[in-house]
Amino acid sequence: MEHVRSRFPALARGAAFLDGPGGSQAPEEVIEAIAGHLRRGTANDGGVFATSRETIELIAAARRAGGALTGSAPEEIAFGANMTTLNFLLAHAVARTLAPGDEIVVTELDHDANVAPWLRVAEDHGLVVRTAPVRAEDATLDVDALEGLLGDRTRVVAFTLASNAVGSLTDARRIAEAAHAAGALAWGDAVHYAPHRRPDRAALGLDVLLCSPYKFFGPHLGVAAIRRNLAESWPADRVRPASETPAGHRFETGTPSFEALAGTVAAIDYIAGLGGGDLDAAYARIREHEESLSRDVLERLTAIDGVTLHGVDDPAARTPTFCFTVDGTSPRAVAEQLAERDVFVWDGNYYALSLMEALGLEEHGGAVRAGFLHYNTAAEAARLCDAVEEIAAAGRRGARSPRRDEAPA
Ligand SMILES: Cc1ncc(COP(=O)(O)O)c(C=O)c1O
Repeated sequence: MEHVRSRFPALARGAAFLDGPGGSQAPEEVIEAIAGHLRRGTANDGGVFATSRETIELIAAARRAGGALTGSAPEEIAFGANMTTLNFLLAHAVARTLAPGDEIVVTELDHDANVAPWLRVAEDHGLVVRTAPVRAEDATLDVDALEGLLGDRTRVVAFTLASNAVGSLTDARRIAEAAHAAGALAWGDAVHYAPHRRPDRAALGLDVLLCSPYKFFGPHLGVAAIRRNLAESWPADRVRPASETPAGHRFETGTPSFEALAGTVAAIDYIAGLGGGDLDAAYARIREHEESLSRDVLERLTAIDGVTLHGVDDPAARTPTFCFTVDGTSPRAVAEQLAERDVFVWDGNYYALSLMEALGLEEHGGAVRAGFLHYNTAAEAARLCDAVEEIAAAGRRGARSPRRDEAPA
């Protein structure tokens, strides 16, 4: 733990960084890779001189690293500004191959970045969007209900591998199999999944997988892994004469952030290093540590009077991302009081709009979200729970003593 934390200079600020689901901190090797690329001399790709050749090598290395992480070939990787931008672009591309009346299945558990693109293209192309519900009692996806929505017009099943709001994992293999049995594509959002579990497109049986390196210790960037024959067949917006570009790269437009590619290679190397160079071993270690944090947080948070946890209470069925509300204190006020104690958390809906609506939280300011990553400690879990205990106790005292202007005459 000490070694891991020493790699992340931002952690020296002393705050409890529980804002990981919104974006992780970066280790020295990532920061150095980004700076190193610029320091050594950057250049656009395609030239015959040294710095341009180095950029060409860097792009190839980034595709290899993205491919290794996602169980995909380097040609199946597309980099973009972020997941949302890539998903809009890919949804537009696949929609051009669909016919009016074709159906897309989305879920209530998803971040809107995997819902809004489908609503947009449905409007453009006369497609039908069906929404799979969550079970309100534990904020997990109702996969039986999702399967019930599949039919012979279903073309895409777009779902999240893990909820960025409540941490629930989904059974990606089962959903992918059901999608394929209906003749549809399995389209997975792995943005929240990737810092916690290996986003292995091939092993999960997905056709398209999207993730964002800035959530897994890298720089701000998006990655799509797209099954080769699909990437080759969809229409892509290309400038001339780049129209011959192979597979996934066809969905990359313009000049990318080469320094972000350098940082992404370093981030994936960093993760692999946690498992002695083996990504699966690294993720197994991450998971073990995170499940232990989850056990601590679940045990304490759920025992606090006036605190409601929105999410599943089995550490193995979730990421260590906790969504909760405190009776009598708004999510914003709880986040502010935690911020005063240097505990960094989010409040609101975190763009998991349908989920917050389904849980009845949206109209009350959403909820508080405390998200742990492998660099967080048991001491930080205790720090969060101690602080929430104090805030909840103060809320209870406030509820018992009416304000002067509310007191009976
Ligand atoms: C689950 C999930 N999907 C998609 C996104 C959007 O990713 P990006 O910021 O790379 O567009 C986020 C961002 O928070 C997310 O948590």
